[in-house]
Amino acid sequence: MKYHIVTYGCQMNLHESEKIAGILREKGYTEETDIDDADIIVFNTCCIRENAENHAFGNIGALKRHKREKKDLIIAVGGCMAQEKGKAELIREKFPFVDILFGTHNLNELGELIDRKRAQKKRVFSLREEREETEDGITPVRTGYPGAWVNIMYGCNNFCSYCIVPYVRGRERSRSADDIVREVGELAREGYKEITLLGQNVNSYRGTDGTSFPALLDRCASVEGDFRLRFMTSHPKDFSAELVSVVKKHKKICNCIHLPVQSGSNRILSLMNRRYTREKYLEEIALLRREIPDCAVTTDIIVGFPTETEEEFQETLSLVREAGFSSAFMFIYSPRTGTKAAAMDGQIPEEIAKDRLSRLIEAVNEQTRSISAGYVGKACEILCEGYDEKKGLYLGRDEYGRMGYFESEENPIGAYVTLRIERANGISLYGTIA
Ligand code: 5AD
Ligand code: SF4
Repeated sequence: MKYHIVTYGCQMNLHESEKIAGILREKGYTEETDIDDADIIVFNTCCIRENAENHAFGNIGALKRHKREKKDLIIAVGGCMAQEKGKAELIREKFPFVDILFGTHNLNELGELIDRKRAQKKRVFSLREEREETEDGITPVRTGYPGAWVNIMYGCNNFCSYCIVPYVRGRERSRSADDIVREVGELAREGYKEITLLGQNVNSYRGTDGTSFPALLDRCASVEGDFRLRFMTSHPKDFSAELVSVVKKHKKICNCIHLPVQSGSNRILSLMNRRYTREKYLEEIALLRREIPDCAVTTDIIVGFPTETEEEFQETLSLVREAGFSSAFMFIYSPRTGTKAAAMDGQIPEEIAKDRLSRLIEAVNEQTRSISAGYVGKACEILCEGYDEKKGLYLGRDEYGRMGYFESEENPIGAYVTLRIERANGISLYGTIA
């Protein structure tokens, strides 16, 4: 019996798919890379923007043919979109060939849901409203060697006005610091070289014993082993000098911080319910640069939020220049039913939003290119994480998140490699082993 998992969305989802794989392995399934040959297909969905949903719906629709050709195939749909209000009913009606539906709060029950489905003809649709436990006892099938993800907390309490995450992932729940540190230790001993602590808003982590996020990070970075430590995502409203000092203290913690700004306009930030100002954000960046001059900062930006004017968009462009981001994820605002922003007047026409996005991408790319150009002729240490079939080159990232490509006779995946950079193309660097 073979499984195939299709994952949409963020690193949290990628890691949860590793847990889904863990459950399926336990049930005796093995992985199948070809979806046509699988006995169970699991879609782990995302609903952060409308296009993520449309994409998933399109691909789930295409499974009708698989089910026709293979009667005992099991099709399961889970994750954020499944948890979203009204979506279970929609999936039930529109896709009669979906056998199992589970949400974000009952992923751990997938094994039982499969048993139930096998024992009966009826479909098994199961959702839970909330979940308190933070330990699921699942051994994930890790797919990111030399990288590994560790959840430190689940859910979000921030209710940014555009965001659906708090509705589909529930309130914040932090894992115990001891459990997290133990997991980091195990991963280090198993030879993982890049460990990323995951949470929707890591700065509001609060362990059962009161441990703060900087204290947790300090403990994780003190674990013995030859690994890099990253964390995401930080919220600027909770960013602290204490956090900066922990990052500065440990060589293991990468000097690369993901700090989503979303907008450069104070009026829009306030409408977004972000609870910081442009000035506070820039002060944080200044503090970071003062303490850790080489620190790279990456961000997320939304354009076309309801009522955003051209002048306000210009403030985002000027912030991009002032903050000196080394890269950014950039999005057109997508209204999500049930969020505050979706009900706001002044939704921005698509052509205007698209035009703003392309100007923003150009501004960010300009910076990305100039940072990359600065690497040429210099040495750069990367952690080799894979092989690019198309390019015929190995690849890996440096501490700051730059991707370096190179040739190698031996397989260096999982090793730190020093490259001499010969040329740069956008965010990618090309070099030879020094
Ligand atoms: N529309 C567009 N982008 C969004 N994000 C979250 N919700 C939306 C939305 N409704 C973006 C934010 C966040 C990132 C993960 O996704 O920039 O930081
Ligand atoms: Fe969404 Fe805001 Fe929570 Fe991030 S902090 S998950 S953007 S509500």
